[in-house]
Amino acid sequence: MHHFFHKLRVHAALLLDSAVYGSLTDCIEYESSAMPSVLILNGPNLNLLGTRQPEVYGATTLADIEKLCVDAGAALGLDVACFQSNHEGAMIDQIHAAKGTHDGIVLNAGAYTHTSIALMDAIASVELPVVEVHLSNIHARESFRHRSYIAPVAIGQICGFGAKGYALALDALADVFARK
Ligand code: DQA
Repeated sequence: MHHFFHKLRVHAALLLDSAVYGSLTDCIEYESSAMPSVLILNGPNLNLLGTRQPEVYGATTLADIEKLCVDAGAALGLDVACFQSNHEGAMIDQIHAAKGTHDGIVLNAGAYTHTSIALMDAIASVELPVVEVHLSNIHARESFRHRSYIAPVAIGQICGFGAKGYALALDALADVFARK
């Protein structure tokens, strides 16, 4: 009988230990994966930045912008991943894949901003916070650039500040994550 109770006690203690250990490791895992992750998604022709109409878009290259984003993200405690495509479908695939992988998206959809209901639908489907960014002030340009299909499904739009707009967008997303 005594032996039976002793065994029971040891078993209970082990269970308790593993419960405490389990919750401790949960905490450790939570801490190490706690950095929110942001996808920087750039659309068509933005791979040509630096040489493309520098009078409109400046001399900054896409590589410069992506580095700026990684650095700004690190300063804000964000993990940053970057992707650029000239193809609408590839951008949609990235938005779908962002669900469960990233916590938010900074999106410069280039000219698709003004045409793509499909990108708008993709953003609405994944329910991630999206900040729309444009290097140029699209509202001060041709009237066809005034309409954005991204704006109604974005949490906000930043345009006209060149490459700095991406850092501003990351700052805005960091605030959104901090409020959660
Ligand atoms: C842009 C503005 C768009 O109108 C244009 O088609 C682009 C770049 C910008 O960053 O200013 O490709 O998104």
